Amino acid sequence: MRSLLFPFLLLLAVNAASQQADPYNYSPRKYMAATRFAVSSAHPMASEAGAAVMRQGGNAVDAAIATQLALAVVYPQAGNLGGGGFLVARLTDGRTLSIDYREKAPGKAHRDMYLDAAGNPVVRRSLDGHLAAGVPGTVAGLAASLPYGRLPLSKLVAPAIVLAEKGFAITEQEAAGLNRLQEAFIRLNTRPSAFVKAAPWKAGDTLIQKDLANTLRRIAKKGMKGFYEGETARLVAEEMQRGGGIITKADMAAYKAVLRKPVEFTFRGHTVISMPLPSSGGIGLQQMLGMVEDFPLEKYGFHSPEAVQRMIEAERRAYADRAQYLGDPDFVKVPVQQLTDRKYLQQRIADFTPGKPTPSTGVKAGGPFESMETTHLSVVDAEGNAVSVTTTLNGSYGNKVVVGGAGFLLNNEMDDFSVKPGAPNLYGLLGTEANAIAPGKRMLSCMTPTIVLKNNLPYLVTGTPGGSTIITSLFQTLVNDIVFGLDAKTTVNAPKFHHQWWPEDVLIEKAFPDSTRTALTNMGYNLKVSGPWSRTELIRILNGKIEAVGDWRGDDSVAGE
Ligand code: DON
Repeated sequence: MRSLLFPFLLLLAVNAASQQADPYNYSPRKYMAATRFAVSSAHPMASEAGAAVMRQGGNAVDAAIATQLALAVVYPQAGNLGGGGFLVARLTDGRTLSIDYREKAPGKAHRDMYLDAAGNPVVRRSLDGHLAAGVPGTVAGLAASLPYGRLPLSKLVAPAIVLAEKGFAITEQEAAGLNRLQEAFIRLNTRPSAFVKAAPWKAGDTLIQKDLANTLRRIAKKGMKGFYEGETARLVAEEMQRGGGIITKADMAAYKAVLRKPVEFTFRGHTVISMPLPSSGGIGLQQMLGMVEDFPLEKYGFHSPEAVQRMIEAERRAYADRAQYLGDPDFVKVPVQQLTDRKYLQQRIADFTPGKPTPSTGVKAGGPFESMETTHLSVVDAEGNAVSVTTTLNGSYGNKVVVGGAGFLLNNEMDDFSVKPGAPNLYGLLGTEANAIAPGKRMLSCMTPTIVLKNNLPYLVTGTPGGSTIITSLFQTLVNDIVFGLDAKTTVNAPKFHHQWWPEDVLIEKAFPDSTRTALTNMGYNLKVSGPWSRTELIRILNGKIEAVGDWRGDDSVAGE
C-alpha cells in the first residue's frame, strides 16, 4: 500500500510546488488553456501573485490588485506605485465600470513649465528628473478597486512585500534595462537606490528593495493613507525639495481616483467596453473600428494590402481628431458624441482613395464641432468577472527618480501633456489647447484596457503598453480576432503596423509580410521597419474554455488553473 501511495503523494507535492513559482528560478509561460481563472501580465511572478490570490478565494479584482502590486516590485520599468493607470471591468452581475487613476499635474504646474526663455520646449525637462512627475494615482486606484474585490488589502499586498523584502532573480530584459540607465539613475537621484550597483546587472542577479517593502507595509496597514499621508507623503515631498520638483504634501493628500462611465459600443455583433477620457484609447478604438466596420476586410484577407491600407487610413483620421479635440474631460469640453457618431465615422473615411495614401497634411481634424513604459494585465475568474488594467510610469523607469527612503520610482507622465501646440511628445504625438498643462489636470493618455463581450459574456480581455502604438495595437488585436478569426496566439503575436497621422510614416514590425510591404510602398506609403512594440496580454473565453496568452515580445507570462 505504502509503495503505491508514495508516487501519488510525490505527484501531489510536485503539483503544489509547481503552482508556487520560485522567485529565484522561473521562466515565462506564454500560453495556457484554463478552466477556472487566468492572469496574463508582463512578468511571471506578477501573474503568479494574481493566480495565488484567486486560489485563496479572491476574485478577478483582487487578483488585478495583487498583480499590480507585484509588478511594482518585479517590473520596475513600468509596474509602479509612483505612476498611474486605468481599470476597466465587467462584473459577473453585468455591471461595467472604469476607474481613472491617471496622474495629475501638481498644484504648482503651469502651461509653459517646459519651455525655455525663447518659448521652445526643453525636451528632457518633461522626461527626466523630479519636474517630470505628475502626482501618482496608482495606490488611489487600487483603493478604489478594493470594494469590488473580496479579500482584505493586507492579503493582496503580501506577495509584493515578500518579493521586495527577500528579492527575486531579475530577467535578462530587466538586467539590460537597469544597465542602460545606470548613469541616469546616478545623475538624477538624490539618494542611493536599489537599482544602482558597481558591477553590471546580469540575468539571475537578486534585486532586493527594502525601502519599497516598507512602503508596501504602510499601504497594507493604512490603505490610501499609508501612501498619500504620513511617512510616504513626507518622503515624496522631501524628495521633491531635494531634487527641485514641485509635488507637495498637499498635492498628495488631494489626489483622488475617479469612477467613470466606460466607453461602450458595438462592432460586428460584439460589445466593446473600453477606457473613456482622459484616455484617448476607448474613443480612438471606437473611431478606428467604426471606420472599417463596413469594409469587407475578411474578403481582402489578413495582412492583404487592401485591408492594411484601409486600416492605416482609419488610424490616420482617428489620430488627427485626437490631436485636436481630446483632453481631460474635467477641464475641457470634448465633443465625444460627435466624434464617435456612426454617420460621422462613415463620412470621415469616405474621402479615402483605394491604392493611394491620403497625405496627412490634407487630413485636418473632423468637425468643427459646436462648443465646443506602461504595462497591461488581464484577469478572469471562475465567477465570470473580467478585469483589464493598464498602468504606467510613461517612459521606461519613469523619470528615473527613486523616492529616497520609500524605494519607488516616480513617473514622467507630464510629458503626455502637450507642452506646446505642435511640439511632439516622447511618442511623436501632437496636441493643442485641449491637452495643455493646468494645475490638477490629467494628461491625455493612449492606454486602452478593453473587454469585448460576445453574446453578452466576456470574450476578450486585453490591452497593451506602447505609448501611441497602444490604440493601433488594440485595433489590430480586435480585428485579428473578430474579423479575421485568427487563433489567440496569432492574434497577439502577428506583426503589426502603426500610423498616427503625424509623422506621415507607417511603422511596421520586422516580420510584416514582404509582399504587402512592397504593395503599400508602390501605393506611395512610406514604410519604416521598427519595434517590436507593445506587449499585448490577451485572455479569450469561448464555450467555457479560457485561453491566456502573454506576448512573445517581452517576459510576459500567464498563470491560472
Ligand atoms: O498614457 C500613455 O499613453 C503613455 N504614458 C503610455 C506609455 C507607454 O505605453 C510606455 N510603454 N511602452
